[in-house]
Amino acid sequence: MNGLIKGEGLWKTYKLDSTEVHALRGLNISVDEGEFVSIMGPSGSGKSTLLNMIGGLDTPTQGDLFIDGKNISSMNDGELTRMRAENIGYIFQTFNLLPALSVRDNVGFPMRNLTGDKKMDKSSRIKRAEECIEIVGLTPRMNYLPSKLSGGERQRVAIARALVNHPKFILADEPTGNLDSEATENIINLLHQVNDEGTTVVMVTHDVDTTKNTRVMKIRDGVIEE
Ligand SMILES: Nc1ncnc2c1ncn2[C@@H]1O[C@H](COP(=O)(O)OP(=O)(O)O)[C@@H](O)[C@H]1O
Ligand SMILES: [Mg+2]
Repeated sequence: MNGLIKGEGLWKTYKLDSTEVHALRGLNISVDEGEFVSIMGPSGSGKSTLLNMIGGLDTPTQGDLFIDGKNISSMNDGELTRMRAENIGYIFQTFNLLPALSVRDNVGFPMRNLTGDKKMDKSSRIKRAEECIEIVGLTPRMNYLPSKLSGGERQRVAIARALVNHPKFILADEPTGNLDSEATENIINLLHQVNDEGTTVVMVTHDVDTTKNTRVMKIRDGVIEE
């Protein structure tokens, strides 16, 4: 199988004054291309730390992390930024949209980080943003500001933004944590649709109802339990 994400013996230690917090304690994880993985565990067990590490937003204190066969600790900042922009879509509990930008411009934003042969001109960027907005069913809201949208709609914008650079995988940290049950179901269905079309999904969630038809990993005290 194609190991898309592989973490071996991952440790993350935060130093706070004289004390140390071990957020990850030698954790191993492997995710194959095409999988939909759910990560569950109590608050403070290291879920966000793990996701940030897989996403190249944070680095392990010890251990190796391979993305598509490449050890991320061998990459310099420029290579890491490029790897993130080309391979990874991010979705957060709090949506993290830019409030002054329209739906179209929020979705188009990550294309600005493409470099070299991936770089796109403005009209191609707009076309691609509109395609992704169509996928999440928000074409009538294209010119709206995020403040005019419901929570569920904002998260759909975030999904469109995550898709815009054709990522290999999407990382979602409690994507339904701020949503009611109807919007939750809608977002989970959309993530499954994206996964069915070939994008790997790794989602942190508190809600067992959202993990149906996914591979569930349980994390406790910085290690995967099962
Ligand atoms: N930047 C940080 N500085 C210090 N401690 C942190 C930091 N980020 C997380 N931690 C600690 O690491 C542990 C795991 O946190 P986190 O990964 O956010 O857990 P979860 O997402 O499962 O709730 C917690 O004890 C948390 O307080
Ligand atoms: Mg968290």
